[in-house]
Amino acid sequence: MSDYQALIAAASQARQNAYAPYSNFRVGAALRAASGRIFGGCNIENATLGLTVCAERVALFKAVSEGERGFDAVAVVTDTSSLTPPCGPCRQLIWEFCGDVPVILANLRGQMEVVRMGELFPRPFDGSNL
Ligand code: THU
Repeated sequence: MSDYQALIAAASQARQNAYAPYSNFRVGAALRAASGRIFGGCNIENATLGLTVCAERVALFKAVSEGERGFDAVAVVTDTSSLTPPCGPCRQLIWEFCGDVPVILANLRGQMEVVRMGELFPRPFDGSNL
């Protein structure tokens, strides 16, 4: 299995745990840490809607809270024909910990596209601005 396929598989697996009763839009994400460990996450919605947390952030916070810092790649999996990129706030958070990594956008039908964070988030605000 290629590196990307392992990440897509982890994101698809995490997506199965999505808690999305309000949008029915189920998302899975996965990150590969420099240590080699893969962390998955799913979106977790809330009746307030505003407290919903995206799959990418769940995966990222799991990894960071386990002590991971460097990351090689991120995958996002949905069941849509138009592939799903990370939302704006998630781009900010992914940039903080992952920088200009490849982001693999995939669906359950085997379609995939690789875009770099630098393309998705071209002029970031980060520690270099402080
Ligand atoms: N969502 C994610 O988990 N990641 C994204 O990249 C886009 C949006 C979730 C949030 C919410 O639960 C649902 O998808 C609809 O916005």
